[in-house]
Order: sequence, then structure tokens, then C-alpha cells
Amino acid sequence: MLHFTASLPFDRRLALVDLRGSIAHVKMLADRSILAHEEAETIRGGLEEIREEVEKDLFPYDLDFEDIHMNIEKRLTEKIGPVGGKLHTGRSRNDQVALDPHLYMKDEIMVIDNLLRRLQETILNLAERFQGILMPGYTHLQRAQPILLSHHLLAYFWMLQRDRERLEGVLKRTDLMPLGAGAIAGTGFDIDRLQVADQLGFSSLYENSVDAVSDRDYIIEFLSFSAILMMHLSRLCEELINWSSAEFGFIELDDAYTTGSSMMPQKKNPDLAELARGKTGRVYGSLFAILTVMKGLPLAYNKDMQEDKEGLFDTMDTLKGLLPLLAEMLDTITVNHSCLNEAVDDDYLCATDLADFLVKNGLSFREAHHVVGGLIAYCRKEEKRLRELDPDTRGRFHSALAGEISPLLDPVKVVEARRSRGGTAPSAVKSQLELAWKVLK
Ligand code: ARG
Repeated sequence: MLHFTASLPFDRRLALVDLRGSIAHVKMLADRSILAHEEAETIRGGLEEIREEVEKDLFPYDLDFEDIHMNIEKRLTEKIGPVGGKLHTGRSRNDQVALDPHLYMKDEIMVIDNLLRRLQETILNLAERFQGILMPGYTHLQRAQPILLSHHLLAYFWMLQRDRERLEGVLKRTDLMPLGAGAIAGTGFDIDRLQVADQLGFSSLYENSVDAVSDRDYIIEFLSFSAILMMHLSRLCEELINWSSAEFGFIELDDAYTTGSSMMPQKKNPDLAELARGKTGRVYGSLFAILTVMKGLPLAYNKDMQEDKEGLFDTMDTLKGLLPLLAEMLDTITVNHSCLNEAVDDDYLCATDLADFLVKNGLSFREAHHVVGGLIAYCRKEEKRLRELDPDTRGRFHSALAGEISPLLDPVKVVEARRSRGGTAPSAVKSQLELAWKVLK
């Protein structure tokens, strides 16, 4: 029973934040004269010793005690005797188990945010490095219109920017201190929650003790931020996987981020990108696990809530492992110009521009769409490119098409024309890039 229900195997990760919480709590107890100053000093000394043990990996974790909170308290009384039992005055384990993940997450969110920032920076550097390179833009994974490779990559910059904004929201709702809630109802001791919050670096308090020990919404919110982030990263990785296949051949990944096959000597497998895509599954899983655990639980603490930690820790490890590697992998991509040029040379990609041209000649867009549709169908049947048709043949579809249309079929010119704000023209992408750098700074 004890071993199955223990959280120690995973909540030992919270040892240092648990100690931080206890040190702040005991100082406040002394300042409020709830404990004598000498008692508080003895307790603080014992806690500092334990911190050293934890840091040096010498702490004797004992699975006969359910969790990290009880392990630390037991170790404290081993060290300083019965006075150690006074640490828990005016406090409950429900308090601690609510406080510790808040402290842990506040630190880790800063780490994740920095890693995301680095990834964004890598994308901006790539967009700069690849300036002027064209690629087919796709819809339905069918070639749609020519765009700049930089423009495509910058799309991910903005997705990550919104992810970071979401994370900022998570931080705001993690920056609340539950301690002082007791088991559920608060405490009869004259504690000073604001002092403890201040010492621990919290901006504000949970204003309801039942709420403080009952909810895990900040963890759910972090996991939902993570799920959305992984969805974005998974799409990016899927594109890298596609683009580095022989079928596309647009890019090559550096050997450091691929593996060979044990059997096929020619293989270069994009393992990191694939695993990023695959790891998305476990992050979604953790989100759904905790949502399901919390659904329908009566207030306040229930043992079910111990299930909040593993998915959180696993997600944190996934993000901290993945994000730096993704940045490195992106940074070392090389572009295969000839494959990209060949893909973009498909002049059907300029069909929209031909239709726009007819609109400028007085047709409604629907009529123009129909005319160009007919022209493309004809080309497909004759196995010809648009630029291979002579003026007379083109003129049969619409008289305006008999004139000079070659600039409309040049992907470079077509791209240059898309100067609307947020569009793919080099001038528009340059402004976008400048704005992105400003946002990042
Ligand atoms: N080990 C528990 C957890 O991680 C904390 C215990 C909270 N209190 C209790 N009475 N079981 O959630």
C-alpha cells in the first residue's frame, strides 16, 4: 500500500523548493513569535544541512515515508530532535504540495522562455541567411504559389511568439502563493502570509484557502501551453522531414541530427525531427491525464491530485531536452538551391497572377478564375507549360492573354508583386523581419 501510494519516487525533484518554502515559513513563525527565535534558528540550521545533502545527492530518501515533505521532516527531527516537529506549526502537507510546484514552475518557466527565445532567434537568423530564396508555397500539400523560404520560416517565429505570450499568462497564474491555506481552512495561528510570499518572490496570494489547496489549473495551463507549442514544433519538424526527403530535396540536415540505418547504407534518417513529432503525443497525454484526474473531484485536496506531478515533470524534461537541439538542428540546415529552383519553376504556380491580370482587364475574379482554369486544363492535356503556349493559342482563352504575359509567369516577379503587409514580397518580408527582431528584443 505504502509503496504504491508514495509520491517520493517523483516528488523528490521538489526537495530544494520544499526546503525554500520551509525556511521562509519558519522565519515567519519566529517573526510572529509563534516559535522562539532559538527554535527557529535550530530548525533553519537543520534545513540548511538537509539542503546540502540534497545538493550533494547524499540525502537518504526513505520510501517508508510517502513523499518528499515527510522525508524532509523526518530527516530534520533525526538531525535536531523533537524541535523539528515544530516546523509544521500552522501548516499542512496540502499546503506544501500546493506550494512546491508553484515554486518549481516559476523557475522552470523562465528556463523554457529563454530556450524559446533562442529558437526564435535561430529562425530569424535563418530567415536572414536564406533571403531571396524562393520555394513553392503549399495548400493541401499541392503547390499553390511561389513564396520566399524566409517568409515560410518566419511563420514559425510568430507562432512561437504567441506561445511565449501564452507562457507569460501561465507565469502570471503560477505567481500566486497558496501557503497559509493549512489543510483547507487556514490556521488559527497569527501567521503573515504576505511576509512569506515576499520572501519567496510571489507577487500575490490565493485569497481563498479552499481554492489554494484544491486547484491545479496553473499546471493544466502549462500543459496546454506545452501541447500547443509541441503542435507547432511537430509541424515544423514534419516539414523538415518532408523537405529533406528525396521527393522534395529542398534541404539537408546536418549529420549530427540524423542517424544511419543498420541495414541500408544510403540512409540518413531525420531522427531528432521525428522524435520531436512523436514526443508531442506524450505531452498531449499528460494534458489529458491531468484534465481527466481533476474533472469531477470534490473540493478540496484529494489523493487523486498526486497525479499532477509526473506529467508536468515529464513535459518539462521533454521541452528542456528538445528545444536546444531543435535550435541547433535548424541552425545547421543547408539549402539545395537547384531542387528549390526546379520546384518553383513550375509556372502553374502563377495561375493566380494570370487571373489577377484578367481582373485588371475588366473581368470579374470568378470569370478570370474560369478562363485561367480552362487554360491550365488545356496545358495539362497538352503536357505544356504556360510559357510554351504561343500568343494565338493563349488568345483563344481570352484576348488579353495574347499580349505579353511573360513577367506574370516569372516566379521572382510574382513574389515581388505580393507587397501587401504580411505578404511574401522581399520588401514586405524585410519589414516583417525588422518587426520580428524588434519584438524579440
Ligand atoms: N503526496 C501527496 C501529493 O503529492 C501529498 C500529500 C498531501 N496530503 C495528504 N493528506 N495526503 O499530492
